[in-house]
Amino acid sequence: MGIEAPYTPQSPAFEIRRVQTRQELAAAMALRYEVFCKEQGVPRHEERDGRDHDALHLIAVHDGHLLGTCRLVFVGATVQFSRLAVAKSARRSGIASELLRATDAETRAGGANRIVLHAQTYARSLYDKAGYVVTGREFVEAGIRHVAMERLL
Ligand SMILES: CC(C)(COP(=O)(O)OP(=O)(O)OC[C@H]1O[C@@H](n2cnc3c(N)ncnc32)[C@H](O)[C@@H]1OP(=O)(O)O)[C@@H](O)C(=O)NCCC(=O)NCCS
Repeated sequence: MGIEAPYTPQSPAFEIRRVQTRQELAAAMALRYEVFCKEQGVPRHEERDGRDHDALHLIAVHDGHLLGTCRLVFVGATVQFSRLAVAKSARRSGIASELLRATDAETRAGGANRIVLHAQTYARSLYDKAGYVVTGREFVEAGIRHVAMERLL
């Protein structure tokens, strides 16, 4: 078990790894629906954009419960990172930060050296702390303010 890229989690409270079963992928989708559609009001057709089949999905798991997820799509030497969601009850305990660290490891392991994403502006410090820099102006996507950021490895 564990993700294939070299990565040592800093917190023993949860495990970060690739989705391994159809059931885990369904649980990740359910968490995304809960967070993006129900909590943030993103239309379901925008949340499910048809790219999940081409993606590497990471999850944070504790005691059989899926607490967080994110998605990586490799396009040449670039990883497009998106769909980062952490269960409400598990927030501010470092799960998203660990998913970003695991994303670095997966990016390197996949032969890529750049990660790009659209950060919701309210959470920008999450990405600042993880080494991302802003690359463009703010814009509205799915009714939410975002800014483009990237990280070069
Ligand atoms: C944004 C989100 C992924 C953060 O997950 P998390 O596991 O709570 O994040 P972490 O515990 O790793 O937080 C690390 C840092 O990010 C920043 N951060 C996290 N949540 C934040 C918030 N709600 N407001 C402002 N800054 C925030 C803080 O700097 C935090 O450090 P601190 O806790 O020492 O202050 C989570 O709140 C979430 O799922 N939100 C709804 C979906 C969403 O907005 N996804 C992100 C799309 S860009």
